[in-house]
Amino acid sequence: MFYDRERELEKFKEVYSFPGSSFLVIYGRRRVGKTALVKEFLSDKLGLYFFVGEKDEALLLEEYSREIEEKISRYLPSYLKPKFGSLEELVGFLLDFSRERKLVVVFDEFQNFRTVKPSFFSSLQRLWDEKKETSNLMLIAVGSYVGMIKRIFMDRKEPLFGRVDELVKLRPFDFWTSFDFVRSQVSVPPRDFVELYSALGGMPRYLLYVPRYYKGGSLGALWGLFFDEFAPLREEGLNVLKLEFGRFYRAHFSILEAVSLGYVTPKEISDKTGMKLLTVGKYLSELTNHFEYLKREVPVTENPLKTRKVIYRISDEFFNFWFRFVYHNYTALEEDPERVFERFRAEFPAFVGKTYKRIAVDFVRGLDLGFEPERVGRWWYRGEEIDVVAYDRKNVLLFEVKWKDLSLRDARKVLKSLERKAELLPLKGDYQFGVIARELEGKEELGEEGFLAFDLNDVIRPRPLSPSP
Ligand SMILES: Nc1ncnc2c1ncn2[C@@H]1O[C@H](COP(=O)(O)OP(=O)(O)OP(=O)(O)O)[C@@H](O)[C@H]1O
Ligand SMILES: [Mg+2]
Repeated sequence: MFYDRERELEKFKEVYSFPGSSFLVIYGRRRVGKTALVKEFLSDKLGLYFFVGEKDEALLLEEYSREIEEKISRYLPSYLKPKFGSLEELVGFLLDFSRERKLVVVFDEFQNFRTVKPSFFSSLQRLWDEKKETSNLMLIAVGSYVGMIKRIFMDRKEPLFGRVDELVKLRPFDFWTSFDFVRSQVSVPPRDFVELYSALGGMPRYLLYVPRYYKGGSLGALWGLFFDEFAPLREEGLNVLKLEFGRFYRAHFSILEAVSLGYVTPKEISDKTGMKLLTVGKYLSELTNHFEYLKREVPVTENPLKTRKVIYRISDEFFNFWFRFVYHNYTALEEDPERVFERFRAEFPAFVGKTYKRIAVDFVRGLDLGFEPERVGRWWYRGEEIDVVAYDRKNVLLFEVKWKDLSLRDARKVLKSLERKAELLPLKGDYQFGVIARELEGKEELGEEGFLAFDLNDVIRPRPLSPSP
């Protein structure tokens, strides 16, 4: 059953309602749910779905003719059998057809035209420019290789530059949607889910494995999914990213591996990988701006454009996990998966702790704090760190986040040390302190004393189970 994606579908509907033709691009990493999304959108519209396989033009045209016959031949005079000698003929025909009625046309894995027929991009541009004014075609190009899609549509030297009306990046589900998605299929306690989410992220395709692999413990599921000889996700990072990076994938992989291990500044990455600082800088910029697999992060009180306190992190939870625990151990995994798994078990709780901190930042963003924060995020200075800081000009709210069950006494200690760290913050205003734990004893008491006290039960916010209609 199709789930969520309401904002994206709303956007598509809006574009669909515009008179005339429009060109929409949907991109996002492999497995994120692009095909499912466009098929859902097509389900109640006159539309055609074309998958751009890496085959001969003639073979593609044969497939596409069948789709046309099935979906729109009832609108064509009976003597006309759609047959096309080239992709250009096909597109010309569709543009003409849509003069009379709105038509949606999807090309899935659009970037594959590069190998099927490289000249198609410029002929598509010519046809589009010539006919779009008089037709009513909603053209949707879907692409999996983020870098390639951006090159095709956003590089000035490319023919399709400037032709796109909407460029939509499809992202993984957020933590809460992911939990609802899994809960609609199988019962998983919130604690276990946080652990699974730390490895799978909000990727529908991977979350769909949970009902089959989860037998009452998240470690068992992760063993089966990542470490076991037949684990379906053991090669996944390689399968998904190798094609994205092409010839230079090894260098990109080394950088992503280093970042996943906690080497997060250009200097640290350079020391770890042995690459020159200049080279590291070039790859970091590419991985951040072009491919979007890395994110720059700065302390929440710093100006992101001016500060030099920049660190990098892998933006995708799944890749972060995969590089850290699978790719980093590739050779050892071949030889002795049990031993790798033992080490993983020891390191995993701290890893989940970091994921929980990121979830907590989003949780605080969604809270009604009694003021509208200018910024919410993490802060660090030298060896000190504050997990969540939310502030405006008059208010400063600080949280310590712990992936642990805290007694009231533990919580008080945590809050004390938070008050001490607050002295280092360059922020003025009324300070308030809080703690977000896995389980927290004495929440009411702390609340009465003026602290904000939450645990996973609050974070997970039981929401009604209602998939999009
Ligand atoms: N919104 C959704 N609700 C329910 N299931 C979904 C949703 N999105 C994706 N899925 C499921 O997740 C899996 C992966 O989705 P899909 O094939 O659409 O991804 P994709 O981005 O097209 O990936 P690929 O790069 O592999 O083509 C499919 O089994 C699909 O049914
Ligand atoms: Mg797809």
